[in-house]
Amino acid sequence: MARKKIALIGAGNIGGTMAQLCALKGLGDVVLYDVIDGLPQGKALDLLQSAPIENFDIKITGTTKYEDIAGTDVCIVTAGIARKPGMSRDDLVGTNAKIMRQVAEGIKTYAPNAFVIVVTNPLDAMVTLTKRVTAFPKNRVVGQSGILDSSRYRTFTAQELNVSVASVSALVLGGHGDDMVPVRSSCLVCGVPIEKLIPSRRLDEIEARVRNAGGEIVALLKTGSAFYSPASAAIRMVEAYFGDKKEILPCAAYLEGEYGINGYYFGVPVLIGAGGVEKVVEIELSPQEKKAMEQSFAHVKELVQAMDKLLAGN
Ligand code: LAC
Repeated sequence: MARKKIALIGAGNIGGTMAQLCALKGLGDVVLYDVIDGLPQGKALDLLQSAPIENFDIKITGTTKYEDIAGTDVCIVTAGIARKPGMSRDDLVGTNAKIMRQVAEGIKTYAPNAFVIVVTNPLDAMVTLTKRVTAFPKNRVVGQSGILDSSRYRTFTAQELNVSVASVSALVLGGHGDDMVPVRSSCLVCGVPIEKLIPSRRLDEIEARVRNAGGEIVALLKTGSAFYSPASAAIRMVEAYFGDKKEILPCAAYLEGEYGINGYYFGVPVLIGAGGVEKVVEIELSPQEKKAMEQSFAHVKELVQAMDKLLAGN
C-alpha cells in the first residue's frame, strides 16, 4: 500500500515539530512547505539525517512550491506569524488572513482532495477563511485548538492532584481565544467529577490558567508561541483520520445548527474518522457553561467580521 502523504504548510516551529512527529510515528511522507527559501529544505534535510538513528523510512522534502503538495492526503496549515508578548491571537488577523488566503488557494489548486487542518491564529477566523476559499466540504476543513486547550486543562488538573494525566479527561470548547470554555462538568478524574476533588475557587484559578496558557508561554519565550503541544494536537487529528478511529475530539468545526450556531466555526466535540469530521457531538452543558459558550461565540463572530472588513479593503 502506498504511503500516505502529509503536507505541512509553514515550516516554523510547529511545522518542524509536526514533521518530526510524522517521522517518528511513521504516519507518512512529509512535504514541508514555506515561503522562506531554504527553511523547509534545511529542516527536511536535518530530519532526514535522523532517519538511520530513529529508524524511519519516510520521505521528508522541503519546498517553496505549492505544486509539490500535489496528491497530499492531509494538509496542516501553520503558515503566518505568531504572537509576541502582549499580543492577543486576534491581533494577528490582518497579517495572517492575507497569508491564509494564498495558502488556501494553493491547497485548493494542488491538493483538492486533502483533509485540511488549520492551526494558524486567530484560529476561528483562519479556518473560516480556509473553508471559504477552498470551498471544500465541511467534513474536510477543521481547526485545531480544542485538543491543545483540553490537554492544558488535563495537565494542570493532573499536576494539582498529583495523578497521571491519563487519569484525567477534560474538554475545552468554544473559540480559541481568551474566553474559551473549560467545561468543568466534563472534567473527570477516573470518572469522578472534578468538583468533588478540587474546591471551586481553586478550579477557577486552574481554568483561568488554561485560558491564558498560550499567553503564558508567549510571555516566557518572548520570540514566539507554543509549538510542541500545538504540534502534538494537530498530529492527534491526523492519527484519528488515517486510523478511521471515530475518536471524539474537541476541534473547531463548521456548525449548521448544532449548539444553536449556524454558519460559523466553533470549538465543539467532533467525531474524526476516515470521513474527516464525520459528526458534531452535542453534549449537555450547565447553564453557566452555556452562557460562557454564548460569550465566546459572540467574540468569534466579531473576529470573523473584523477579518471580513480587513479583507474587503484588500
Ligand atoms: C497557543 C497558540 C499556539 O494556544 O494558539 O499556544
